[in-house]
Amino acid sequence: MTDNRHPGSLLKEIDLTKEQFLGLLDLARDLKRAKAAGTETQPLAGKNIALVFEKASTRTRCAFEVAAHDEGAHVAYLGPEGSHIGRDESIKDTARVLGRMFDGIEFRGFAQDTVEQLADYAGVPVWNGLTDQWHPTQMLADILTMTEHCDAPLEAITYCFLGDGRNNVARSLLVTGALLGMDVRIAAPRELWPPQNVVAIARALADVSGARIDVTDSAEQAVRGADFLYTDVWVSMGESDDQWAARVPLLLPYRVTEQLIAATGKPTTKFLHCLPAVHDTNSDLGRRLHEKFGLVGAEVADDVFESERSVVFDQAENRMHTIKAVLRSAFGG
Ligand code: CP
Ligand code: NVA
Repeated sequence: MTDNRHPGSLLKEIDLTKEQFLGLLDLARDLKRAKAAGTETQPLAGKNIALVFEKASTRTRCAFEVAAHDEGAHVAYLGPEGSHIGRDESIKDTARVLGRMFDGIEFRGFAQDTVEQLADYAGVPVWNGLTDQWHPTQMLADILTMTEHCDAPLEAITYCFLGDGRNNVARSLLVTGALLGMDVRIAAPRELWPPQNVVAIARALADVSGARIDVTDSAEQAVRGADFLYTDVWVSMGESDDQWAARVPLLLPYRVTEQLIAATGKPTTKFLHCLPAVHDTNSDLGRRLHEKFGLVGAEVADDVFESERSVVFDQAENRMHTIKAVLRSAFGG
């Protein structure tokens, strides 16, 4: 069915060429400048976009909503409850219904196969707003943010992800850096390394792009010389809360602290996080982890999160500019 997919769909990073990925970043920069200058236009006026969420979201939902509104489009939000999707109606039927009413569909959920099926049957562009496997719109924001905070050419930028190396964000970072010819390190305990097939995809891309790929269990080794340290929550959406008891001891050596940042040997290293982050006790999760494990923050220490080197809110803002580029380009630029 892949032939029926709309070319404006974005299901995973590896569907894009390096040139397409960089083209979206150029468009996002233009749109960001236009918004700041108040010169935005509304080429998507009259378009209707469905936002389908099986999982929670703050940034992705808001980025799609604001981007669509800025471009003149309307959105309809379908949350985890209250529709028939996946329960009493198949994804194939849902896709064909939504495709008759909407000009584009964003989907966040569990299985990558769901977003792929939507794309197979909807006949309109489908965008992956995160699955258990990939988080492609996050990658556009992350690489844009890196280029804003590092003067080196992309191919000379090094970034290191520390934490759960099997999760969606780690997998996406691995293949994205490989596609773009960057220096990518994943530091994680062996049990949490990215799956072999994902590493193989990254290595094949690196052979073409000249990227350097390293998956290691040594945090100190992985961060050496890195321009960016990146981490993510230790237990992802869809995983059981019980996982925390095993993950905390396993991942504590990979927590991003000032001490680990010093091991980069670079005074200019910046900190990235897709968010939401566990860095203090001001959230329910942060309080629970404090009560249970005596931790203040988990994957990142609060002083790092709040420091000058933390560019996480630029990164969050860039979700909107980059998603706007995805929408605009799906409908012909
Ligand atoms: N980074 C990210 O995808 O955030 P949300 O879960 O809030 O959308
Ligand atoms: N790995 C995290 C990313 C959240 C944006 C999760 O899937 O929950």
